[in-house]
This record gives sequence, C-alpha cells and structure tokens, in this order.
Amino acid sequence: MRLDILTVFPDMFDSPLAEGVVGRAITRKLVDVNCLDIRRFASNTHSSVDDYPFGGGGGMILQPGPIFDAVDSLKKDSGFDKSTPIILLSPQGKKFDQCKAEELARHKRVVLICGRYDGVDERVINHLVTEEISIGDYVLSGGELAAMVIIDSLVRLQDDVLGSAESIKDDSHTSGLLQFPQYTRPAVFRGWSVPKVLLSGNHKEIKKYRNKQSIKRTLERRPDLLEGIDTDQLG
Ligand SMILES: C[S@@+](CC[C@H](N)C(=O)[O-])C[C@H]1O[C@@H](n2cnc3c(N)ncnc32)[C@H](O)[C@@H]1O
Repeated sequence: MRLDILTVFPDMFDSPLAEGVVGRAITRKLVDVNCLDIRRFASNTHSSVDDYPFGGGGGMILQPGPIFDAVDSLKKDSGFDKSTPIILLSPQGKKFDQCKAEELARHKRVVLICGRYDGVDERVINHLVTEEISIGDYVLSGGELAAMVIIDSLVRLQDDVLGSAESIKDDSHTSGLLQFPQYTRPAVFRGWSVPKVLLSGNHKEIKKYRNKQSIKRTLERRPDLLEGIDTDQLG
C-alpha cells in the first residue's frame, strides 16, 4: 500500500513514521508513505499557500491551487487511478472507525490531505476530494495528527505487518466487540491473581471465558455497539 500525505508541516511525520509498527513496516517495504509539502506547489516566491477568507473572518484559508497541483502531480504516477480515495481530514467529515479503516486498507493507494489554519477552500471539497474524514468531535489545529491516526490504523491491517494474525482478529472493534482483559507474568502481583482459567492450559475453556468477558465488557462500556444484536448468539 502507498499513502500520500499532503501537508504544510511534513517534518511532523518524521518520528511517527520512524517508530514502532509503522516504522518497521516502512523499513520492510510493506508500505510506502510519501509526505508531500504543499508549499512546493506555491505560485509565489514566499511559498505561502494560504490567504484571507472572502467575506472576512478571523483565520486564514488554504488556497485551492497548491492542493490541486499537488494531487495532479500524484496522478501522473502509474499507481494512481479513479478508485484512489482522496481524503480531506476535517472535523466536518464522517467519523473514522475500524470499519472504515478496513475498507481503506484494501486500497493500493490512499491520499490524505491535511488542512490547517481555518480550513481549506471549499472548491477542494467540492471538486477534488472523494470524502472527508473526522477522527472525532473536537477541533485540532491541523489534519496531521488525524492523518497519523489513520495511517497507523491502515498500516497495522496490511498483510505481514503484525507478527501474528491472531492479534488483529481479537482486537477491539474488529469482531464488533471490545477485547477481553489480558494478563501477563507474574501470575500473582501485589496479591492480585490472574483468573485461574488462563493458567489452566485448557484452550476451549480459555476461549469460552474470553468470549464471555468480551461480551460483558462491551455491554458495560459500549452498549451502543451491541444495539440490535442478540447477545445470546455471541456466546
Ligand atoms: C482548526 S481546523 C479548521 C476547522 C474549521 N474552521 C471548522 O470549523 O470546520 C484546521 C484543520 O485541522 C484538521 N482537523 C481539525 N479537527 C479535525 C478532526 N476532528 N478530524 C480530522 N481533521 C481535523 C482539518 O484538516 C482542518 O482543516
């Protein structure tokens, strides 16, 4: 998979793209992440890509020209086609979730446009992007952190990125439930013991226990995830 990020702050991605699961996936060439500085496409000598809003108002707006030109430069690559999602990170977009992550992870290529200041010119939304995505109902100063969230969630879904396919299957939200509680050594810590069944070696019983815990936890913490679902069918 290849991810293209359009941003005015490409340096913000240095550390998140170098560390952990994402860093390893890039080093192993399982994914390719390309940060494109929108300022490279500025048409003035100061490399400015924002301007005052027509009609007045406080903040600056990212101009359409540099963003359209940056995406046009990507369209020249062979891997780009009509199905390539061109996503604008926006607090006005559809809320990101695991289902969306799985859908996007199936694409060979995804473009992420990071807004800044008071946002982007509306013509970018109307005539360039295929969808707007929000990572939650709050306002960030820019789309970069939101893009990092999306990148991380897509990269870990790529084949061979995580050590064991099992760890994805049991993740919260993957099966529609929250994950069961997990424990590691020591078996007794400050007097608190690990549930006996987990030490039993009885895989059938462990599976049953974990499934029950997942349902219990989801009902307690996120009953909205189970709306319309007969929980007896899950157990
Ligand atoms: C300060 S925000 C602009 C918000 C805009 N004035 C509004 O009210 O919709 C600047 C940029 O941060 C990004 N951003 C802010 N909050 C976000 C969120 N919840 N999800 C995704 N991107 C967000 C967007 O790219 C946005 O263009």
